[in-house]
Amino acid sequence: MSEAVRTMMRMDAEAAQDASPQSDAGFLWDFWYPAARSTAIRGQKLVTAMLLEVPLVLGRTSEGKVFAMRDSCPHRGIPLSYGRLDGKVVECCYHGWRFDACSGQCVEIPSLSSQDKLKVERIFAGHYPCEERDGYVWVYMNAPGTKLPETIPAAPALTVFSDKYKITHLSCELPSHIDHGIIGLMDPAHGPFVHQSWFWRKRGSIHEKAKQFEAIPNGFRMSPHSPSTNSAPYQLLKKITGEPVTTTIDFVLPNIRTEEDRSGKMWFSSRATVTPVRRDLCRIDFVAAWNLFFLPVSIFSIFGKIFLRQDQETMIQQAEGLKHHPRLMLIDDADRPAKWYFALKANLIESRRTGAPMVHPMDGPVTLRWRS
Ligand code: FES
Ligand SMILES: [Fe+2]
Repeated sequence: MSEAVRTMMRMDAEAAQDASPQSDAGFLWDFWYPAARSTAIRGQKLVTAMLLEVPLVLGRTSEGKVFAMRDSCPHRGIPLSYGRLDGKVVECCYHGWRFDACSGQCVEIPSLSSQDKLKVERIFAGHYPCEERDGYVWVYMNAPGTKLPETIPAAPALTVFSDKYKITHLSCELPSHIDHGIIGLMDPAHGPFVHQSWFWRKRGSIHEKAKQFEAIPNGFRMSPHSPSTNSAPYQLLKKITGEPVTTTIDFVLPNIRTEEDRSGKMWFSSRATVTPVRRDLCRIDFVAAWNLFFLPVSIFSIFGKIFLRQDQETMIQQAEGLKHHPRLMLIDDADRPAKWYFALKANLIESRRTGAPMVHPMDGPVTLRWRS
């Protein structure tokens, strides 16, 4: 096909927009990302993780505080995770340099003699702010070569609406660039094709929907509404409480989708994050909490895993196609959330570059219509 024909075709598809991820790694720095489950970090174990292509070593001090260091000894680069933790200090396996686990500060270089003038305390291993929330260890990833800002926001927390509730966690890896992971997460049109299940919905139940969206800081909200009438679980909830079900779905940068469903005193709250591990790998971490007495964790987990597996299989297939760098399209209205995501991301990067306030891509509430 000639370049001219190709260009014409492109102009023809008026609503289309190139959805290829940016050519750089396309990571958003200076945000919290979940690095591991809390339960995986125990005793004096050193655990490895990777976020935004940064190798990390995670651990827990004897006081119970989690920490995250760059998994690389500042001396000769061997991963610190091959060393050991004594509850407070991480010791490198190569020459035994010792680093305070929470600050990364070097506290001892065993080879130094009494003649040496090297100021040990001026040497630091890379380290990152680290917090535990909702059963995850979160790490604040400031951009390479930058100092941490004076104040950093608190790590994200799942909203809950009562003291007593059940909670569960699921996760799966996607062989995809973060942008594909995220637009897959917010994509309303794949449901009837990818998530066909007797317990959820059938392909034949596809129908036209109109949903209102509004701008929120760093993201957008599907305004509170009654959820899809073709989804069995929502129908059940309504029957039990005898009150309408209201759903609110938010997306906020860098990677968070939350959904809150409420009906009378009953509630269900979930959060999915898509975290960039490498440029060709991301991970969905899904946490859900609820006080619905009729929904045991075991049953929810079975269905949740089926759901995630369906998305994962699709993304594995998509990755096969993306290897050949095809041109991609984003259409209106079903792909509008994806367009907002790309615009939010670009505008945030621009505002950080210039120091000017971030421009929000939405200038008011919008109703989107699609069939699903
Ligand atoms: S490489 Fe770690 S102490 Fe030498
Ligand atoms: Fe999905």
